[in-house]
Amino acid sequence: MPAVLFCSNLDDPEEWRPPMTKLMPDLELRVYPKFGNPLDIDVAMVWRPPQEGMGQFKNLKAILALGAGVNQLDLPSLPKGVVVARLVDEVLGKAMAEFCVLTALRYHRNLDVHERNSRLKKWEYIIPRPAAQRSVGMMGLGALGGQAAKLLKTVGFTVCGWSRAPKKIEGVECFSGPDGLYKMAAKCGIVICLLPLTPETQGILNKKLFDAMPQGSYLINLGRGGHLTEADLLSAIASGRLAGATLDVFNTEPLPEDHPFWNHPQITVTPHVASTGGADTAAQLMVENIRRARAGQPLVNQVDRAKGY
Ligand code: NAP
Ligand code: GLV
Repeated sequence: MPAVLFCSNLDDPEEWRPPMTKLMPDLELRVYPKFGNPLDIDVAMVWRPPQEGMGQFKNLKAILALGAGVNQLDLPSLPKGVVVARLVDEVLGKAMAEFCVLTALRYHRNLDVHERNSRLKKWEYIIPRPAAQRSVGMMGLGALGGQAAKLLKTVGFTVCGWSRAPKKIEGVECFSGPDGLYKMAAKCGIVICLLPLTPETQGILNKKLFDAMPQGSYLINLGRGGHLTEADLLSAIASGRLAGATLDVFNTEPLPEDHPFWNHPQITVTPHVASTGGADTAAQLMVENIRRARAGQPLVNQVDRAKGY
């Protein structure tokens, strides 16, 4: 009987085992590094591959990422012919959309300013504006960005979105291609990044983008730390080009104690909590993909290894 490898320094395999075994009673789940004979492994559930890579698993058919993002898998280093799937389910999508609305509304209703004023006992009346007068730009209109854009629209924001290929989403003004990003940014007082991290999107949250945004805009990065050019953000806030930022993802996590983002009055740091997929709800997807991998069928949420997402 082939076995499934579980390899993660972030996820607890014992949270996954019961709901998966319920759906697949003959499941043999082996936890790295005690996986026995590597030739038994045909599917691997992985957050980040082990340091020695996946090369020893000669019978590996599929890698099921324990996250929606797959940059941490280092796709080019994985054995050729192995298919990869991302973990995206309804719970993860809903939680992400919620976080986008929460952080966008906080800036829209000036809560960041009121929080700072409250520490100073400063009573400053700022006239609230209707949400429709605020444009939110979503970088990435995939499983997560697309769902979040729709919820932002439901809340009443004017919503724009940017993707690689042209898209149509009702009620959302869609942009695409490299120039499309700067056209969208020029309209948006709040920009949210929900892109995958690829060589094309590395460092994309940079001076050029901030200069395209209206004076006093806000940035919310929920993608990956590698999207952000950190020095450009600090300069953009110092100059007033940006009024603030919420950052959930970082190049080094946990964020080092001496990092200038901590304690910055206009930066909110959250510890990569925007959204996670729970074992209880995602077990069904994992089991479905194990069955598909063994039957040689395309996986649910299969990654295009050439595109990198
Ligand atoms: P997805 O379904 O693969 O969608 C990616 C979107 O980005 C697509 O719309 C795609 O355009 C667009 N895109 C990719 N490369 C682009 C480029 N070069 N130029 C313009 N648009 C580009 O991904 P997802 O499920 O929405 O997840 C997005 C990311 O969220 C993940 O990769 C992960 O890094 C992050 N994430 C963060 C957390 C957290 O807790 N902070 C949790 C989960 C995920 P096309 O539609 O044209 O292909
Ligand atoms: C979390 O960041 C994920 O990629 O699911």
